[in-house]
Amino acid sequence: MADRVRLAFSRRARHYNAAASLQRAVAWRLARHCRHLPLPAGPMADLGAGTGLLSNALEQQRPGLDLLRLDACAALLEQGARQQTEASALASPAAAATQLLWDLNDGLPDGLDGAALLVSSFALHWLEDPCASLGQWCDALAPGGWLGLAVPIAGSFPQWHQAAAAAGVACTALPLPEGDRLLAVAAPRLQLRLATSLRFSQRGPSGRSLLRPMGAIGAGSSRAKPLGVGGWRRLEAHWPHDPDGPRSLSWDVLLLLGRRTPMGLKR
Ligand SMILES: C[S@@+](CC[C@H](N)C(=O)[O-])C[C@H]1O[C@@H](n2cnc3c(N)ncnc32)[C@H](O)[C@@H]1O
Repeated sequence: MADRVRLAFSRRARHYNAAASLQRAVAWRLARHCRHLPLPAGPMADLGAGTGLLSNALEQQRPGLDLLRLDACAALLEQGARQQTEASALASPAAAATQLLWDLNDGLPDGLDGAALLVSSFALHWLEDPCASLGQWCDALAPGGWLGLAVPIAGSFPQWHQAAAAAGVACTALPLPEGDRLLAVAAPRLQLRLATSLRFSQRGPSGRSLLRPMGAIGAGSSRAKPLGVGGWRRLEAHWPHDPDGPRSLSWDVLLLLGRRTPMGLKR
């Protein structure tokens, strides 16, 4: 994981859960799709787990599951563990979740070979080669094992791209993977139960106010050179807006749920 990205997430780790409303909503939704899956034996993990929004949602919706939280950012993993301890001190004591500090750009750890369940939300797009990583995740599943994925894809932030083009400034959004390319990796490897792209839109008084939550959770890193004050002003002036004033920002999120062909069954 690039040090710059890790540093940005680390700095905001304490504020992640309070500000990550979209991530929380998507995690809950993905967990609902996963809660009744017939799982074979094998390890289970939340890849790029951060503070564990997805693994917590899944363990709440399907008591008895125990997912490894894997992430390259120690501060987010620690924050997740701290919040879990605080929550369990209020309710009945729960066993501490298992965690692994791991860079997913190096593939998956050997311990996840033959996985029964791999889930991941809002993490794949941070990796150097999302298609290659997705292929590795599918291939690590046990026969009959499941992959549950949520990832923002290209086509997100149309308002931001439009404003930048009209203002003649760079769009500093992180480039996102193409949904079709991700599907082309998953479809030959998995029996897909769900493959759908959902649009989430947020409204606010200005473009900057809509981008602020990304910075607030440490997800504002970009490969592009940051805009100066003048660039931001031009971007804001060209941000498309509704007739009654508010601006909006939309995310396209690919939800994918698929199963590796069980042994003995033909695809
Ligand atoms: C926006 S957060 C999402 C966290 C969590 N899945 C959620 O839904 O709230 C992106 C996560 O991906 C992790 N990440 C980014 N690059 C990574 C890498 N190379 N290896 C492991 N984790 C990575 C970050 O540390 C961060 O926890």
